[in-house]
Amino acid sequence: MSNIKVIETRDGSSSLLIPEMNETYHSTHGAITESEYVFLKMGLNHFREMHTDQNEIRILEIGFGTGLNVWLTALAAMDFDLKIKFVSIEKFPLEANLVNQLNYRNKKGTEAEEIFDQIHSSGWGKEQAITDQFSLIKNKSDLFDFDTPAQSFDIVYFDAFAPSKQPEMWSLEILNKMFDLLDEGGVFVTYCAQGQFKRDLKLAGFETEELEGPPGKKEMTRGTKKTFGV
Ligand SMILES: C[S@@+](CC[C@H](N)C(=O)[O-])C[C@H]1O[C@@H](n2cnc3c(N)ncnc32)[C@H](O)[C@@H]1O
Repeated sequence: MSNIKVIETRDGSSSLLIPEMNETYHSTHGAITESEYVFLKMGLNHFREMHTDQNEIRILEIGFGTGLNVWLTALAAMDFDLKIKFVSIEKFPLEANLVNQLNYRNKKGTEAEEIFDQIHSSGWGKEQAITDQFSLIKNKSDLFDFDTPAQSFDIVYFDAFAPSKQPEMWSLEILNKMFDLLDEGGVFVTYCAQGQFKRDLKLAGFETEELEGPPGKKEMTRGTKKTFGV
């Protein structure tokens, strides 16, 4: 993917635009706003409320991109004194010169800046302790080749490009895979609310919820892998 451009979204935070796809990495209504609402509030915080006795949470992200979701989750882990093991998959890592043009790092204070830099300087394919609470594996691979044992995650942040741009990422085959790798009670969360995707999410076995979306979006979707027998 060449020719990627840095843009400013409506909350003042950066995102990236791929002109030939006419696709952005985040909502143009606010990148940080979207990430905090969709993935942190409706994903991580929801899971914490449902599992108050769990003191370590395992998260898988589809699409590391700018590292924004990883960064905000690392900051949340510190705020809540919560252990998080995070794996993020990315097929097309961004060049450093693009990452350096993003304005996230100066939005949350000095310690947060250092954490942002550590997330980006950490190597691919090995587990790194980013803070006392947060460890990260950045996995440079194609989602279709990603292999992991069943039931090894509690939350999936599904942040692929839109189904209209990359339909194969939202296929039933992939959603079945997400269902398998989530533990019982696990949560799948995404900004997307497309009809066929929601039907396929149900077919994959998830109990689905249509939730109010972030600014500029009517709806978003959450799926739960219900505990057997409940
Ligand atoms: C919407 S962006 C992710 C935004 C990111 N979560 C962030 O916080 O900046 C989608 C990402 O999926 C990646 N991607 C596209 N196809 C992929 C594939 N087959 N396997 C893994 N990642 C893929 C893209 O390169 C892009 O970084």
